[in-house]
Amino acid sequence: MAGNERRLIEVADAGALAEVAAVRLLARMAANPGRIAICLTGGSSPKQLYELLATEDYRGKIPWERVHWIIGDERFVPDSDERNNMAMARRAFLDRCAPSANIHPIPTDAANPDEAAARYEHELKAFNGVDRLDPVWPLFDLVLMGVGPDGHTASLFPGYPALEETERWVVGVPEAHVEPFVSRVTLTLPALASCREMLFEVSGAGKRPILTRVLAGEPLPANRARSDSETVWLVDKAALPGDTRAA
Ligand code: 6PG
Repeated sequence: MAGNERRLIEVADAGALAEVAAVRLLARMAANPGRIAICLTGGSSPKQLYELLATEDYRGKIPWERVHWIIGDERFVPDSDERNNMAMARRAFLDRCAPSANIHPIPTDAANPDEAAARYEHELKAFNGVDRLDPVWPLFDLVLMGVGPDGHTASLFPGYPALEETERWVVGVPEAHVEPFVSRVTLTLPALASCREMLFEVSGAGKRPILTRVLAGEPLPANRARSDSETVWLVDKAALPGDTRAA
């Protein structure tokens, strides 16, 4: 599929959504015989998927030694804080399944979000052995995303300068636009786009108002976040606006 198109896949409910996401994740892993990089997201949307990956059905199908786990955005709070995104992913599955050397948290022990961003960008560049993004060599096999009530994704909030960043891969965000109101560190649109697949998970009636705006084409951050290759939105029936629901 050409870059910048978006495919919507409708599923019955949150459980089915996590299953379909897990199957897509496995397919991306199976397609790469070398080192695999998956960019995770925070918030509540991916939790069910994360827990599923640790179950017997999936755990044995993941080449854990070859998979590296990056996080697309972080709340600037210590690892021990329950609001920390990577800590949530660790609790849900990584700590039980992944070699610790393959988990790449954003360093929230830095002096400030800008320093954490610079350090993480440096780590991503060293990890990939490149200094510049190249569409031929995407950073990630798959990037997971969610959408917030204001249309933000990762920690790219509407109207914030981070959204317009074209050079840096990771930036500090001094203030969040929604809860939790802590500073953030986020990958930028070009860094997130550098993937074979960007996969949004959107479920529940609470997401219907923002999904309606996204599907109407408003230039919200979540609408501007597109993979250079394939962008897929997995949505459940409860989240879909009434007029696009299957009969
Ligand atoms: C975060 C996330 C953020 C999230 C959306 C959706 O740090 O909060 O990375 O971008 O994906 O806010 O959040 P929910 O899944 O909780 O609705």
